[in-house]
Parts: sequence; C-alpha cells; structure tokens
Amino acid sequence: MLKCQAAPFERVIEYLVRSLNNPLNKVPGPLYARFTNLPLKAAVISGRRIYHVHALHERYGPLVRIAPSEVAVADAQAFKLIHGVNSGFEKSPWYKDMVSIGREGVFTMANNKTHAARRRLLSRPFSKSHLRQHWEVVAKERVRLAVSQIRSEIVATGCADVLKWWTFMASDVSTHLMFGESFHTLEEGKVSDYIRKLQSALMGGGIGVELPLVRWIGRRLPFQICRDLWAANDYLMGYAKLAVSNMKSSQGKTNVFANMMTEAEKGERLDDEDVRIETQSLIVAGSETTSITLTYIVWAVLSRPDLQRRVEQELQTLQQDFGDADVEQLQLLNAVVEETLRLYGAAPGGLPRIVPAAGTTMRDLFLPRGTTVTTQAYTFHRDANIFPEPLEYIPERWMASNEDRHRVSDAAKAVYAPFGSGARTCLGVHLAYMELRMAAAACFRDCAGVRLAPSATPASMEMENFFLIAPAEHKCEITMP
Ligand code: HEM
Repeated sequence: MLKCQAAPFERVIEYLVRSLNNPLNKVPGPLYARFTNLPLKAAVISGRRIYHVHALHERYGPLVRIAPSEVAVADAQAFKLIHGVNSGFEKSPWYKDMVSIGREGVFTMANNKTHAARRRLLSRPFSKSHLRQHWEVVAKERVRLAVSQIRSEIVATGCADVLKWWTFMASDVSTHLMFGESFHTLEEGKVSDYIRKLQSALMGGGIGVELPLVRWIGRRLPFQICRDLWAANDYLMGYAKLAVSNMKSSQGKTNVFANMMTEAEKGERLDDEDVRIETQSLIVAGSETTSITLTYIVWAVLSRPDLQRRVEQELQTLQQDFGDADVEQLQLLNAVVEETLRLYGAAPGGLPRIVPAAGTTMRDLFLPRGTTVTTQAYTFHRDANIFPEPLEYIPERWMASNEDRHRVSDAAKAVYAPFGSGARTCLGVHLAYMELRMAAAACFRDCAGVRLAPSATPASMEMENFFLIAPAEHKCEITMP
C-alpha cells in the first residue's frame, strides 16, 4: 500500500532530478521550457508557432530551448550542420505522426539511407528538364484557365478571390501529374469535398500531433469539420488508388510514376501501396504550398502600385504564347517571386530534426543525442544581419544588376530556405517555380490594372501558421477600378 503511494512521488522526484541535471539547461530559454512543452503546444494549436519561436529567438538569441527536449536554432553555422548532406540529423518522428497514414513515404521517412534510395527514384520526374518536356503543357493550360476564370469572375461579380482560383489551379496540376487525370476543379469553380480535405490535411495533422486524443475522437465523430481535419489523409488515400490504376493503364492517362517502374527495375522497388502513399503526400505537399505563395505574390505586388506598373511593363516584352523558359528570363518578375518566398513562402516554420548518437555542439553548447532541433525560415529570412532591412519588401535585392547594400550575399543565400535545405530539400521545387513564374506572369499580364479589393487588408492577409501559413481570412480578393 505504502509502496503504491510512494511510486508517483518517486517518479516526480526522479523527473525533477533529471530535469535539473539535463545538459540542455545550459541552453538559454524561458524557465518553463525545462519542464513543459505546453506553451509551445498552445502556440501550435492557435496557429502562432512561427511567431512564438521568433519572439523567443529575439529574447534569448540564436539557440533557444523551447521545450524540455527541443531547441530552436537560428545560427548559420548550426543550420549548415543540421541540414548539410550526410549530416546524420534525421527527420523527427513528428512528420510520420503528422501525416499518420501507416507506411512511410519520401516526405516522412526518418532513416537517411532509406530516404536517399526513395528520393533517387522520385528525383528524375521532378527534375526541371523532365518537367518542361512532359508536364509544362499541363501547367500552362491550367495557368491560362485560372487567369481566365479570375478575369471572368471580376467581370461577373466585381471581384475575384485569387486564393480560391490558385488553389483550384495547383490542385488540378497536382492531380494531373500524380493521378494521371485532372479533377477539373477550375472548370467547376466550386470548393468540393476533395478541395476542403486538401486544405485541412496539414492543419489537422499539425494539431493532431499536439492533441492525439482529440484527433482519435475527432476521426470518429460525425461532424464535417472533424472529418475535414482528421480524416483528410484517409480520404485522400482513397483517391490515391487512381494513381495506381492509371499508372498501369494503357489508356494514355500517364502520370509521374509511369516511368518509375523502369527505374525501379534497376534497384529500389515501389509497390502499389508505396505509390498510394507517395501520391497522397505529393498532392498535399504540392497544392496549398503553391497556391498560398502565389496569393502572397499577388498581394505583395498589388500593395505597391509602382512595383505593379514596373512588373506589367516587363511583361509586355513576353510573346503571346509564352512558356516557362521565357518567363525565367524576366529579372523583375523572378525577383518578386524570390522576395515573396523570403517573406511569405508557404512553409516558413520549424523543420524538426534529431541530434544523432554522438550528440552535437552548437555555439559551444552541447546537445545530447535525441534532442529535437528545429530551424525556421521565418526567423532566418528576417535576420537584419543577413538581409538588410529584412521587413521591407525589396525585390531588387535579388537582381544581379543591383549593387546596393540590399543585394543578397552568399551568406544570405546559404540560409535562404523557403524550400528547406540539403538532402530533404523540397522535391517539387522545380514544379513550384514553374507554376509560380507562369501564373504570376499570366496574372499580371492578362489582368493588368487590377487592384486589391477593400476586403484585402493587412489584417486579412496576416499569416496564420498551421505548419503552412495562410492568410487569416483565407481569401484575397482583387477587383478592377
Ligand atoms: C511554393 C511551393 C512550395 C513550398 C514553399 C515548399 C516547401 C517545402 C519545404 C520547406 C520542404 C522541406 C520540409 C522539411 O525539410 O521538413 C518541402 C519538402 C517537400 N516538398 Fe515542397 N514546397 C512547395 C511545393 C511543392 C510541390 C509542388 C511538391 C510536389 C509536387 C512538393 C513536394 C515536397 C516533398 C515530397 C517534400 C519532402 C522532400 C524530402 O523529404 O525528400 N513541394 N517543401
């Protein structure tokens, strides 16, 4: 009896002794972070993680303990150490937990060796040359339709929500590439169940990691919002079957996995379940990220009439039926894309990695094995020592012709990471750039002279952060004066 009562007490003492002797106590940070991750959890659940961590960096410096076994890192050397190829830092189990669909895929794999083999297999179809040769035509056609729908909506109703249309566009491109057929959401013009699930998958995943019991119960409740948040991945996995059947079909519905089977014969194999898992994560990783970044491109440019005029002027040099290679030559437009990715890239939050077996030392502080270290682009991209006047939107800093102090230095390029860094850098980076460039060019050219609608205010565009960012009001309306 006495023993039973003593056990919890002993556990508390043991916990306190362990906490007091933890080598991470030497890492600066709020006292509470030694004992609890609750403030961090609260920030995640309320969509404020990037701000919470950034504020802690501002107060405590480049290395800050944010939870009992988690350290946020905003130091350039340490960034290189964590994300360098062959660094030995593996992705944290947080990714698998967030996606929560059983078998691991390229996005969630922790083991660096297993990941490298899968990544080799997937890299070719996502290379710039392969994308241009096989899929540019799809992206181009979807971009043109999206812009034409935006124009029609402005004519019909007085304004158009670009976030909605970019979401349809990016989703159509993703479904075409991964499934082998588009869902034609641009033609339908309505937020379908599929789109709602796509929009909720990462948000629900992020919240679900923090509140696993709520996720477990939520999955079983008959409410739409619960199903959208916590059954989204299962629902999307259902669609992923299409990718498998189209990959094998002789109906001409080819997808990015089609040629992979020939590659697979040379070594690494993909079975049907792997294709479903990869399809699901590529669809989720490739849709919202692109549409949100594009929305902020429009917002950033239309907020600055002089910049808008110069961008529109540059676009007059384009031939009518331009392609990605033509747009890639436009200095100002590409600078706008980079500057938007710096300040409003869709995935600026913490990318958690695990300290390898030997432990590591950063800024003279020892971090033991198993510590979670996270770097967030949000903080690096706002560091005044790296990007002069970091909060100012200055596309010119990316232009080769620019000689002034804003020009992006090599040191800045080393920590500029809107697509992550190292071996785990975004697989879809070339597809993303292709869509961002072509859609921004088509929009600013074919909708020249548009303005932000009164509903598109700084407050409405404030970034909320549930793994990705999104405008607080989940829309960005534009109009014709
Ligand atoms: C503007 C658009 C995009 C942004 C800002 C973005 C951002 C990112 C970031 C920051 C990561 C690193 C995650 C980490 O290290 O934990 C990442 C990884 C990834 N992204 Fe993207 N992404 C975009 C578009 C896409 C597209 C279009 C696809 C696919 C069609 C895609 C597929 C992936 C995949 C599969 C990974 C995991 C790569 C790996 O671990 O090997 N992304 N992305």
